[in-house]
Amino acid sequence: MKYSALLLGTIALLALNTVTAKQYQEAKKPNIIFIFTDDQDHKMDSLQYMPNVQKYLVNEGTIYENHYATIAVCCPSRVGLLRGQYAHNTNITDVSPPYGGYERFNTLKLGEDYLPVWLQKSGYNTNYIGKLMNQYSVNNYNNPIPRGFNYQEQLVDPYTYIYNSAVFSVNGEPPVYYKDAYQTDVIHAKTRAALKRVQAQEDPFFLWVSPMAPHGQFEIGKGGSMKTSDPIPAARHAHLFKDVKIPRTPHFNPDQQVKTASYWKTLEKLNATMVEEFDETYRNRLRALQSVDEIVGTIFEELEKSGELDNTFVFYSADNGYHLGQHRAFPGKCTNLEEDINVPLLVRGPGIGKGKKSQVVSAHHDLAPTFVALAGGDEHVPSWVDGGVIPLTKALQKHRKPVSKESFSVEFWGLDLLAENYANANVIGPNTYKTLRVISQDYNYVYSIWCTGEHEFYDLKNDPYAMKNLYTGATNQLVNRLDALLVVLKSCRAETCRDPWRILHPDDKHVKTLRDALHKKYDIHYTQFRKVQFEECLGYYQVTNEAPVIGQHFLANVTDTSQQRPSSTEQYIISKFDKRADKSNEDGQFILPKEYHELLKLVPEPNQAVGHAPLGQDFEKYAIPVDKKLLETPVKWAEYNFYGFGS
Ligand SMILES: *[C@@H]1O[C@H](CO)[C@@H](O)[C@H](O)[C@H]1NC(C)=O
Ligand SMILES: *[C@@H]1O[C@H](CO)[C@@H](O)[C@H](O)[C@H]1NC(C)=O
Ligand SMILES: *[C@@H]1O[C@H](CO)[C@@H](O)[C@H](O)[C@H]1NC(C)=O
Repeated sequence: MKYSALLLGTIALLALNTVTAKQYQEAKKPNIIFIFTDDQDHKMDSLQYMPNVQKYLVNEGTIYENHYATIAVCCPSRVGLLRGQYAHNTNITDVSPPYGGYERFNTLKLGEDYLPVWLQKSGYNTNYIGKLMNQYSVNNYNNPIPRGFNYQEQLVDPYTYIYNSAVFSVNGEPPVYYKDAYQTDVIHAKTRAALKRVQAQEDPFFLWVSPMAPHGQFEIGKGGSMKTSDPIPAARHAHLFKDVKIPRTPHFNPDQQVKTASYWKTLEKLNATMVEEFDETYRNRLRALQSVDEIVGTIFEELEKSGELDNTFVFYSADNGYHLGQHRAFPGKCTNLEEDINVPLLVRGPGIGKGKKSQVVSAHHDLAPTFVALAGGDEHVPSWVDGGVIPLTKALQKHRKPVSKESFSVEFWGLDLLAENYANANVIGPNTYKTLRVISQDYNYVYSIWCTGEHEFYDLKNDPYAMKNLYTGATNQLVNRLDALLVVLKSCRAETCRDPWRILHPDDKHVKTLRDALHKKYDIHYTQFRKVQFEECLGYYQVTNEAPVIGQHFLANVTDTSQQRPSSTEQYIISKFDKRADKSNEDGQFILPKEYHELLKLVPEPNQAVGHAPLGQDFEKYAIPVDKKLLETPVKWAEYNFYGFGS
């Protein structure tokens, strides 16, 4: 009796143990890893040259082919992602002051309520390694310390864009550097160490790994001018890809210039010398990405070793894309070309298809709500968030806040930055535009309105390289719909970004797509809306310059018709254009004063190539505090156009 009771008790206990372990396994929230590169294209095949990305993410996960950055430049794109918002709602519209950068991010209090905070509230151990955003620097690394991270190691300016200088602030401590180390290798070693640390802890973890590659290298040119040059690969990768070239698609350096809005019409066909230089830039980007690919390999090896792989989502993306010679453009980003806005998004994890391609349309502002949904923390996502949840898994397909079904807007304010690596390119013009993208199985449209009054309309389903501008005037019934949809998406907030049709058809829930709205019975309805137009080409976001917004979208509501420009006028004189910085010399060059060169040298750059081999596990032993003089001498790098080449 006694014996059997004991036996029964043991069996019950055993059973209980198994159940608890299983339930525990089920209840354990998934880990989330986010690998996030800087300026990596999707359209120019960069992923094809990354063997670990292919092996672990492409073959074992899903590529989201229609994922987009809604503003193709670093700081605005990153802040939008962190907040789940369009740039028109963060008002971070540039990489540096006065309209962007880490200080403005804090002045606008954007860093108090954002992704890492939501994940912490959801019970996550949050970690960040690498580049956070422009202007996080040796002068403000702890003012404030970025909120919401349990552990963080960020690159600090002005060293962020120097491949052979790896300077980090760890948890807001005074910055340290690693002598003669290759920056991506330091991020790699830190990622391995972080994985060991977070996997030893009980809470589910979020780890954001943000290499600066394949961004251009910052350099001081002859006479102290600031410039960006090709990315510098690790020494062990410098010999690769000697025969590789930019894909020669029909829109690569075409004989005839078909893209003609604003500065595009002035671009001349690139000569053979330039094409060769661009091909070398392309190869250097691929080479610089090899060290990133090694990080990807390490992440999966560590996850396999620890047994966490099956309970971890791994995402791979980039802040914005990049172009090289398409439509004759000099290397850079910031444009509305697909090369700049269509970014990689690869996802692997429990419930994600293996070796699949998804056509779901999504944007960077959808990532934060998607991460938090995976983390089971929906209640921590504020109602003002523009993004929705990407239907990655069966469970997320039923989420009550889905992504916008097929449309989003792309925005930019400022000058074009086509001249990134080539200060002498002398191609400059207003780059303030609104672009609408509508993508479904049936259609794939690009519709753009420039601050110059010019329009572009491409049908990418039939013309994938945007070689024929179909815009003939505003009267076309299709264009009527696109104009109306763009008004909504350029000024949307929260729910109106996810379901813009409710603004255009408040009483008709059946209209959910452009196809629905194109029904003949709405032809008259769509003649009632005002069209987007700019008053002037401003380098920042001013609501009154970009009428109309939601709420003023009916023609009937406009009393002062003088505000409406005649739609026949295509060109306006650019009366005022805000310049980003003003310390240029008579030739328009930005010369960094000598004393600042000296300051910069306080972190010594190696005089030969580094990165012959990845770093060992003891790399932290070699961390050296940076000279106090660097921390104590405030320099307004932005005034010397430090970010001017499109960081
Ligand atoms: C090629 O184009 C560049 C940039 O426009 C120019 O500076 C250079 O002189 C040209 N080279 C030749 C050989 O024409
Ligand atoms: C965005 O910021 C600029 C500069 O601070 C300001 O002039 C503008 O009114 C702001 N726009 C909005 C919509 O708040
Ligand atoms: C704006 O126009 C719409 C459509 O004609 C009308 O229903 C609405 O009452 C107007 N609103 C105002 C404030 O005039």
